[in-house]
Amino acid sequence: MSEEKAVLSIGGKKIEFPILRGTEGDVAIDISKLYEEHRMTTYDPSLANTAVCKSTITYIDGEKGILRYRGIPIEQFVTEKPNFIEAAYLLLSGHLPTREEGESFRQRLTNNELLHENMRHNFRNVPTAAPPMAQLSASLSNLACFHREFLVLDDDDAFMEVSAALISKIRTIAAFIYRRSRGLPYIYPNPNLRYCANFLHMMFSIPYAHYEVSPEVEDALNLIFILHADHEQNCSAATVRTVGSSRANLFASCAAGICALWGSLHGGANVEVMQMLDGIHQGGISPEDCIKMAKDKNDKFRLFGFGHRIYKNYDPRAKILRDACDRVLASIKDTTNDPLLNIARRLEELALSDSYFIDRKLYPNVDFYSGLLLRAMNIPTNMFTVMFAIGRLPGWIAQWKEQHDLVGGRIIRPRQVYMGETETNFTPIEER
Ligand code: SDX
Repeated sequence: MSEEKAVLSIGGKKIEFPILRGTEGDVAIDISKLYEEHRMTTYDPSLANTAVCKSTITYIDGEKGILRYRGIPIEQFVTEKPNFIEAAYLLLSGHLPTREEGESFRQRLTNNELLHENMRHNFRNVPTAAPPMAQLSASLSNLACFHREFLVLDDDDAFMEVSAALISKIRTIAAFIYRRSRGLPYIYPNPNLRYCANFLHMMFSIPYAHYEVSPEVEDALNLIFILHADHEQNCSAATVRTVGSSRANLFASCAAGICALWGSLHGGANVEVMQMLDGIHQGGISPEDCIKMAKDKNDKFRLFGFGHRIYKNYDPRAKILRDACDRVLASIKDTTNDPLLNIARRLEELALSDSYFIDRKLYPNVDFYSGLLLRAMNIPTNMFTVMFAIGRLPGWIAQWKEQHDLVGGRIIRPRQVYMGETETNFTPIEER
């Protein structure tokens, strides 16, 4: 059968392009030779219509609300004991770990959980009110100063080691940022604790006082990190791939990803959602007013936690988190009448029955309910996006590696349509 082609007719010319078909039937027109052969480009400012890579990591069907990590539906990770590190290993290596592989990776995490002692001073020199995401990005980039052995990755073993180092240390860095902001002493990681329990220990234990991690909180944190672990070519993952395409090291690329995630339209939305719910609860605005403002084109307010570039159906992660809110909040604290959860429910009810949201296919996304769970774990609102980053880190690393391993991989360098001045002359100062 002859190869299927797309034909573009322009200026009396017919140009043919190969067609790419994904394993789930997604279709792409391969224009990778368009400029080289025809000195033309396509114009797609937010890349909403442009595939920038072939990937085998995560699959999303936005119409059907499907999300799969390496082919496994996200719903199958919601078990009795959700295991973030197992999901992270799957994203990094392409397969679920055997017992031995899992044990070996856990050992790598433990071996790398401490920060270089000199990194502590980075936290001391910033104001206590410094934005946690600024500190997190700076600290991740700073790791390159203390771990130059990880700047060049020669083989898979080095890759798994640096992946474990980043995934382990981001936890310690996040906890140190929190402790510093509260004027509390740093709590060092405990090598006898599992990933999430160790993080909670570093965040909340008090020297010499007994601290017991609640299994419900530990399970809920594993679930939250799993649900945030990867999401194909989202803004921050695309940033990590772009930075990595210049052969920048993994620390620098992930530090850039953190900066992209910080934006209120992306990972920063979980903070905006909580502030929105608090604003309604404190009496500033009602849910109905919120909906009105969100629909008002003259008002820059958006219903944060709603809408998605890809999902034109309920975000499967939001569904899981919504259900978890009932279950987990009830087990963590008495939430029979949690005002913010009730407000969130009311907002969802109003939006899902309003033609503005229905017509635009705006549904709750991952950020709409996540903050309610994080708040129940005593995570402060200004740390919510840091929590998103901890969860997303394995996905960023997997995306970086896929870009890094591309045979003949080229630097990502988009073109433009120039709309500026045609040629003109420099005007000497005397004539201006
Ligand atoms: C994440 O890409 C990913 O995968 C991201 C993520 C991940 O896991 O990495 O899923 C995580 O970032 C989730 C999204 C978190 N952001 C928010 O909750 C912020 C609120 N949502 C939006 O700003 C918006 O929906 C985006 C940014 C999420 C998507 O933006 P798009 O695809 O560019 O959509 P758009 O802005 O063009 O909106 C289309 C229409 C517009 O109205 P019209 O011009 O057609 O009249 O829908 C409106 C928008 O004004 N709209 C909203 C809205 N979201 C879109 N109106 C009110 N409230 C909203 N939340």
